[in-house]
Amino acid sequence: MNYVKEILSSEDFISKKILVAGWVKTFRANRFISLNDGSTINNLQCVIDFEKYNDEFLKKISTGSAIEIKGKVVESQGSKQSVEVLVDEIIILGESDPDDYPIQPKKHSLEFLRSVSHLRTRTTTFSSVMRIRSTLSYAIHTFFQKNGFYYVNTPIITASDAEGAGEQFKVTTLNYKKLKVDNHSDDFFGKETKLTVSGQLEAESYAMSMGKVYTFGPTFRAENSNTSRHLSEFWMVEPEVAFLDLKGNMDLAEKFLKYTIDYILEKNKEDLEFLEKRLIEEDKHKPKDKRNEFSLIEKLNFIVKNNFEKITYDQAFQILKNCKPNKKKKFKYLITEWGNDLQSEHERYLVEKHFKCPVIIYNYPAKIKSFYMKLNSDNKTVRAMDILFPGIGEIVGGSQREENYDILLKRMQEFKIEKEELWWYLDLRKFGSAVHSGFGLGFERLVMFVTGMSNIRDVIPFPRTPQNAEF
Ligand code: 4AD
Ligand code: MG
Repeated sequence: MNYVKEILSSEDFISKKILVAGWVKTFRANRFISLNDGSTINNLQCVIDFEKYNDEFLKKISTGSAIEIKGKVVESQGSKQSVEVLVDEIIILGESDPDDYPIQPKKHSLEFLRSVSHLRTRTTTFSSVMRIRSTLSYAIHTFFQKNGFYYVNTPIITASDAEGAGEQFKVTTLNYKKLKVDNHSDDFFGKETKLTVSGQLEAESYAMSMGKVYTFGPTFRAENSNTSRHLSEFWMVEPEVAFLDLKGNMDLAEKFLKYTIDYILEKNKEDLEFLEKRLIEEDKHKPKDKRNEFSLIEKLNFIVKNNFEKITYDQAFQILKNCKPNKKKKFKYLITEWGNDLQSEHERYLVEKHFKCPVIIYNYPAKIKSFYMKLNSDNKTVRAMDILFPGIGEIVGGSQREENYDILLKRMQEFKIEKEELWWYLDLRKFGSAVHSGFGLGFERLVMFVTGMSNIRDVIPFPRTPQNAEF
């Protein structure tokens, strides 16, 4: 079997016989079949001699049907493609009723395509997005493996709440009535267990023995936020490095993001060009002030070539307190008091209006961040950092970790986390403790940024969100 991608990309196939299979995109004039097998964004034009077939047979060649073709590759007569296939033999593998098949050759809305997620990768938009997603995940592994990191698989079922936000899904084999009792000794694991919200705490244990590690796996959050940037099940990349401080952590994250984006610019050119055109079309229907300033590829190049702005929470607070964000000169949530968490409108203002580039905010107020973050000597701020991207908001969250046993214990008490629950995590501060840092990248947010898709549900194959677990 030959693949469309290899046939289209090598002149060696010209004048050769090939065997290829795929799904029909379009069938014109009973003569031209546009075939795609998913290997590339481009379709293979196959030309048949309709006089050889009866109407009954030709009817079965319709959008969505699976066919196998034997034929000869020739240089194309038309200007649209470089080569085409003159068909000797055609076998219908699976028909596709044109009255039923949802992916017709016309423009469908993304909302509609979400309702047919099992078929939406037959469209050029979704196959491009998912090809980029695949390359991005390879780029992530490549970056870390090239830089001496080890890949660790942290547990999906856990008894601890890493982020202390209480937004976890329970894992239990108890029936509902028993669940109301707070005693899990009869439960499968003999204790209360949940789906993980982060592999960080376990990754720290590995960093404190293997030096440089990273996780890349699914995480689960039961937060009821039905936004275009939140999923209930998403993939997170979490590097963790021993003997690295906050500054080193920020530099690592910046280098890492630039590497992965540059990788896509090089490897997925055709997919990006298609998605860029798609966005330009979309822009035409928007009011002028809502249109993108840069094209998709310009935007990605800009990120790769320019430094991220680094500011403290203090500095961000001063800018936001004194700015006039819009015509009404107001944010929905006013930022008046030092210590307030930044809302997405504040983050977007800093990135999109004030600095016009990615921004890293660090040294956040301790109160609004997690218990494990390293307390600064002011006793007020922690060595946390968030990376904010245009159009996305927070793409990375990370920190230097508290390595002092007593301070960590005190912070746990403040957050009402039982010592018994995280005894092993405290142990890491007892036996050879040292400065260490890490961060978490929301993988889908990176895919959104690179593909220009505006809803996170369109960059993961089968999205899980509140009230939705179809497929
Ligand atoms: O900022 P978060 O909550 O950080 C952590 O979980 C740390 N344990 C990471 C670490 O230091 N190792 O989450 C990290 C990133 C966010 O910046 C965001 O990109 C993404 O994960 N994220 C989500 N993505 C999709 N849907 C959600 N509900 C998300 N919540 C967080
Ligand atoms: Mg965060």
